[in-house]
Amino acid sequence: MSEHSGEAILSGKGVTKRFGGLVAVNHVDIHLNKHEILGLIGPNGAGKTTLFNMLSGTMPMSEGELRYHGKVIPKPRSNELCKMGIGRTYQICQPFSNLTVLENVMVGAYIRHGKTSEARDAAYQVLKRVGLEQAAHSGGSALTLPQLKRMEVARALATEPDVLLLDEVIAGLNPTEVERIMELIREIRAGGMSIIIIEHVMRAMMNLSDRIVVINQGTKIAEGLPAEIASNPLVIESYLGGGKH
Ligand SMILES: Nc1ncnc2c1ncn2[C@@H]1O[C@H](COP(=O)(O)OP(=O)(O)O)[C@@H](O)[C@H]1O
Ligand SMILES: [Mg+2]
Repeated sequence: MSEHSGEAILSGKGVTKRFGGLVAVNHVDIHLNKHEILGLIGPNGAGKTTLFNMLSGTMPMSEGELRYHGKVIPKPRSNELCKMGIGRTYQICQPFSNLTVLENVMVGAYIRHGKTSEARDAAYQVLKRVGLEQAAHSGGSALTLPQLKRMEVARALATEPDVLLLDEVIAGLNPTEVERIMELIREIRAGGMSIIIIEHVMRAMMNLSDRIVVINQGTKIAEGLPAEIASNPLVIESYLGGGKH
């Protein structure tokens, strides 16, 4: 695995977001290598979701530059980035409650498949992949938390991305469910995707990630292999030893 950003599939340079006087993300350099699982950790309010919002074009950057396959994206917009191959989940799962699970996933599939029948077939295949086909015809609002998280992953997968951004899809699950979703994430990577994952469950992150980036108060404070991060004094002080996060 290389840490050289020149080979990155997705990278951000000097990525910054200001909300009025608050600098939520402060000149963060981040890159994702091909077929890599990059863990993004940091305390609550550190700016992780805001960084995802900018990497996926959901929110404009105040400053910074985004590159995909080495090419600068001048004005990143979520629809455009999604079509280019950057898929994401949302921390707060918001299923369309008047749609079935299958229809929720079809919303993602329509990005690639114009015909309803094709979108439905593609969405169903994704549901099978995440182990949710039994719930295909349930209402989106009838799901349990683990099912919701799987549907959220399915919705992103249905856009057929190269890069998948996962925002807390493990948090709140029991140990068995954590194992299952970790297995799914590994399978997704084995299928050729590159993944950035935000998560609080440290054991899962140390296990899953090839490399970890730590942000605190909007600033990147560490980057390295899981073992390096686990023994980094700055990380221990600001995050791992910091009580509730
Ligand atoms: N849309 C917004 N408007 C104003 N402040 C925001 C907005 N989104 C996030 N913030 C603030 O930015 C900071 C980082 O938030 P967030 O990215 O959600 O952190 P994390 O995902 O690491 O918990 C927090 O102080 C949060 O209150
Ligand atoms: Mg968040």
